[in-house]
Amino acid sequence: MQFKHFLQFSDFSREEYEYLFERARWIKQEFKQYRQYWPLTDRTLAMVFDKNSTRTRLSFEAGMHQLGGTAIYLSSRDTQLGRGEPVEDSARVISRMVDIVMIRTYEHDIIKRFAENSRVPVINGLTDKYHPCQIMSDIFTYTEYRGSIVNKTVAWIGDANNMCNTWLQAAEIFNFKVHVSTPPDYGVSPEQLELINPAHYEIFAHPRKALIGADLVTTDVWTSMGFEEETEQRKRDFADYCVNEEMMSMAQKDALFMHCLPAHRGEEVSAAVLDGPQSVVWDEAENRLHTQKALLEYLLLGKLMI
Ligand code: CP
Ligand code: NVA
Repeated sequence: MQFKHFLQFSDFSREEYEYLFERARWIKQEFKQYRQYWPLTDRTLAMVFDKNSTRTRLSFEAGMHQLGGTAIYLSSRDTQLGRGEPVEDSARVISRMVDIVMIRTYEHDIIKRFAENSRVPVINGLTDKYHPCQIMSDIFTYTEYRGSIVNKTVAWIGDANNMCNTWLQAAEIFNFKVHVSTPPDYGVSPEQLELINPAHYEIFAHPRKALIGADLVTTDVWTSMGFEEETEQRKRDFADYCVNEEMMSMAQKDALFMHCLPAHRGEEVSAAVLDGPQSVVWDEAENRLHTQKALLEYLLLGKLMI
């Protein structure tokens, strides 16, 4: 049987994203009107979490229910995954019992090995390397506010983490540019940069310079999950990387601010920016639900006639 996985942003083409966004717009509108839409009756999603989550868990679980299906939460804390059962064996077993799997884990290699042994589609709900579901929602949100992201400039300020890597992949697919500014020891890995056409990014030593001309300003926590022991060092190293009102004023007048959340006011973003008029973070979070419902529908049912 032919099926697709969604392990990184580059797994889908621009056309596929355009289709998903069209479906997400329709699914969102129907949901807001309280109209029942149950294309996934009797379908089951297994959600495997090796890391904490609020938005990812809730949006997949609620989304699956709202499409008429069922979602099952599995944590490495209380399954055999946490007691050393090989990921390949877990994939073989889990994928015989459900129709689709979402995984949030550490090394990207874990999700790749799971997918290689899975009988059903696997979705990346965040790894140390990528967070494709979040960027899908972010671009959908940008489009809702400002129209096409093609030829726009996104400023990434802070850690070159899973979100940054995914923005870079998206830039190539949607044809926009990412201005990246990170502290010296926290830049994009050469291995990631090698994958991206240089026309789609520019590295800036100074965050303020990266903001010039930006249509969208975005950042993320200084310490991602799995790096907690570096927290104190990172607080020192990232001290100049707080997106505040003065920084925002360097970007385009109508620039939007995004953050995948959870945010730390006073660290990577000031309260005035996060809670201010340019911030669209709550819509960005809500759109996880609508875009992932479109993704679940697509991976399970393929393209529908619309
Ligand atoms: N943005 C995001 O993925 O949030 P959670 O960690 O709460 O799932
Ligand atoms: N970069 C963050 C994103 C959390 C949603 C992390 O990996 O912890």
